[in-house]
Amino acid sequence: MSFSPCKKIGLAPMAGPGDSGFRRICRACGADYTVTEMISAKAIFHGARKTAALARHTPEEKPILIQLFGRDPEAMGYAASFVRDTFDPAGIDLNMGCPAPKVFNNGDGSALLAEPALAAELVDAAVRGSGLPVSVKMRIGIDRADGSAVDFAKAVEAAGASFVTVHGRTRAQFYSGRADYGEIRRIREALSIPVIANGDVTDGPSAARILEETGAAGIMLARGALGSPDVFGRIKDYLAGNPGAEPSLEARFSLCLKQLAYTVADKGEERGCVEFRKHLLWYLKGIRHAAQYKAAAGQISSVADCKALINRILEEENRPRF
Ligand SMILES: Cc1cc2nc3c(=O)[nH]c(=O)nc-3n(C[C@H](O)[C@H](O)[C@H](O)COP(=O)(O)O)c2cc1C
Repeated sequence: MSFSPCKKIGLAPMAGPGDSGFRRICRACGADYTVTEMISAKAIFHGARKTAALARHTPEEKPILIQLFGRDPEAMGYAASFVRDTFDPAGIDLNMGCPAPKVFNNGDGSALLAEPALAAELVDAAVRGSGLPVSVKMRIGIDRADGSAVDFAKAVEAAGASFVTVHGRTRAQFYSGRADYGEIRRIREALSIPVIANGDVTDGPSAARILEETGAAGIMLARGALGSPDVFGRIKDYLAGNPGAEPSLEARFSLCLKQLAYTVADKGEERGCVEFRKHLLWYLKGIRHAAQYKAAAGQISSVADCKALINRILEEENRPRF
């Protein structure tokens, strides 16, 4: 039971972009821990090997939490025990925040915010099944931040959750509007276990603001790391009083190629490059004339293609090539 998220900056789970290669580059750039993409407890319960493979990770991504979703306590207990035995994570995180219609309409993810008693049963099942720290990732409400999230958080705390991560939006907001740090603070004030704040952290100043306004024990961030995994190190420098400069183009592309190498090592060159295309687009965001490189970025099918595109950009910017 040794994992603690306190005073740490974690990489939040992201179904799709949050694969092994991305988690690995984020850890290498200063993320203190990582979380897998959400994984169906029911699919693991029914023996789906492809689903279970989503929990696979390299030692470099540790400490890692494996995130499970579902609403069946028996399946949750089994899945928690299975992933502990198979992957040796630092803990289990339960998804009670996903707003996606196909998840919500099944009663999973953020739909559980309306069912605190069932959520508590799920936490209890995961704790008993794994014997590991179990955390809950939640939002501040379904349609409105009506204060019910405080009771919900208290219910999962009483059931044995080690900490909760709160994304400061309602389900109805999806990813729009701004995260409400006041609501995260209310939940933090009502609980004895650590509360980790999440939502809209993209740099040092926004990290300082979420910590100040929520009083949270730690931070998790997701979108701010896409194409900028070095954000973790920059946040740490800023919080330590050493605000640094934005990374150079060469530094950014060097991280990009490193992440691609990790992805290819995990998925093979063909599949790895196809899945990396969206990450390459994130790395190009904000650079001059990015639009003209988009088509090529969306078509890379080898490491050589990616390197050639990067070198083309560096050459046009009169920078040294790789
Ligand atoms: C593409 C994408 C996929 C996500 N997948 C998950 C997921 O599998 N599990 C989860 O709990 N949250 C998921 N989230 C939510 C993030 O973990 C995080 O709570 C949210 O993006 C707010 O944090 P941010 O402002 O730092 O991005 C996802 C978000 C994005 C953008």
